[in-house]
Amino acid sequence: MIIQDVAAPGQSGDGEAFVRRDHMLFIGGKQVPPVSGQMLDVEDPSSGEVLGRVAEGDKADVDAAVMAARRAFEGPWSEMSPSERSRIIWRLADLILDHAGELATINTLENGKPIGDSLNGEVPFTADVFRYYAGWATKLNGETMTVSAPGNWHTYTRREPIGVTAQIIPWNFPLAMLAWKVAPALATGCTIVLKPAEQTPIGALRLAELAMEAGLPEGVLNVVTGYGATAGAALSAHPGVDKIAFTGSTATGRAIATAAIGNLKKVSLELGGKAPTIILPDADLDMAIAGAASGSFFNAGQSCGAGTRLYVHRDVYDRVVEGVAEQGAAMQMGAGIDPATQLGPVVSKKQQSRIFRILEEGRDDGAEIVCGGFAPNREGYFVSPTIVGNVRSSMAVMREEVFGPVVCAIPFDDDGLDEVARAANDTEYGLASAIWTNDLSKAHRLAAKIKAGTVWVNTHNFNDVTMPFGGFKQSGWGRDLGAQALDLYTETKTVAMRLP
Ligand code: NAI
Ligand code: MG
Repeated sequence: MIIQDVAAPGQSGDGEAFVRRDHMLFIGGKQVPPVSGQMLDVEDPSSGEVLGRVAEGDKADVDAAVMAARRAFEGPWSEMSPSERSRIIWRLADLILDHAGELATINTLENGKPIGDSLNGEVPFTADVFRYYAGWATKLNGETMTVSAPGNWHTYTRREPIGVTAQIIPWNFPLAMLAWKVAPALATGCTIVLKPAEQTPIGALRLAELAMEAGLPEGVLNVVTGYGATAGAALSAHPGVDKIAFTGSTATGRAIATAAIGNLKKVSLELGGKAPTIILPDADLDMAIAGAASGSFFNAGQSCGAGTRLYVHRDVYDRVVEGVAEQGAAMQMGAGIDPATQLGPVVSKKQQSRIFRILEEGRDDGAEIVCGGFAPNREGYFVSPTIVGNVRSSMAVMREEVFGPVVCAIPFDDDGLDEVARAANDTEYGLASAIWTNDLSKAHRLAAKIKAGTVWVNTHNFNDVTMPFGGFKQSGWGRDLGAQALDLYTETKTVAMRLP
């Protein structure tokens, strides 16, 4: 979906002015200062300058937000009809599109990504996700069972909202990740305490305001900005939270699952990935090269589905690697807010240093930098598109989620599929994968062999709200999106009634 006309005049606010404000927490439908009085700086990753400040919420604020969410859950939200819930969620989708330019500006300023990606990709996708789940609010039916016990029975199930949910999201797609979590929770009738990433909290605060404008009752969606180790940890351990949903690193996912043990809150985790891209010799190579390059470099590689291990049949290896290198080198690098930019910075100094550390380790171990591998001489946290060759599967660059525009290239010889499937599966992760081939039989057989939650064929990073997304192995628990996400936010109640 392409939005040409950003918004009707007067409807959409000024994204930059919003970012530059001091932002309070959003609890019970109101802006609330943090108990500690502390603020944290939000940076522009394309310059390192401070963009704005948000409240540094911690345990005391989390307590207040959980209380507000509980009150809303027991009160107005549970009394509302599914169709009224649906209308509010739908209205929010409309408001998101009305404010597309403003939201895209906020998203791009705090994350660094190209404005076109925010405006034509992430923002309309965010609206789509709300619209899709608006439809589900009225379709959460139980079923009746036919039991065999003697006598007369009426037995049925009800799908009830799980209650107060905590949602902790990352900085790579600040608005889309919010929608993946918040929309199904609202559709099912849950209430929410959302903790956005400390690098990109501002879009979530604007979206919470729009949700109020759409008619969401106070306390249904609360936003506590702050750090993971304090606000995030307090939410994970909180006895008043019934369910926690998380997207981010596998290490933090493990910490959250551990903290959740206390009250056995339900946990869903969408964690890291190390997606293989497999190019078979019969593939349409122009398409495969463009797809592999964008699969690896889109969003500066900061995508859990990013292609990070490029397995290319030896017959076409040189051509593919050269082609991907050329496409990477041709990307216009710059601040995301500049419409000419195709490759923005990575989100923080910390991420940039981590990427170069992993590359350095690989180099020390004998890996070869085919192209890129440097920080361009400019302000901000940029990383040039990088291809690493001569890798071994034991290297960190092959095992760890790098989260930068970095891809390892590996040739393979036979096309019997088992060898390449074994290599592709040689990872703790299992989130996404891509196969490029025109051979229908090979595509299906390889898709069945890959241990990953998503297999893309002749495409990469394609997400649709209808398609469940999540991980095998250490890439997570549960599935976001599609009808499956509704299961994360509902309990099934069985009612068994004897009819005397
Ligand atoms: P992270 O997983 O630590 O942070 C994501 C979210 O979790 C943020 O909101 C953060 O505040 C929160 N968090 C951090 N520690 C927490 C804790 N102990 N308890 C509760 N919440 C906590 O990711 P980080 O440190 O920003 O990035 C490190 C690496 O993680 C990246 O290089 C990348 O490999 C991976 N990552 C993966 C993402 C994905 O979508 N798969 C998204 C973001 C990061
Ligand atoms: Mg972390």
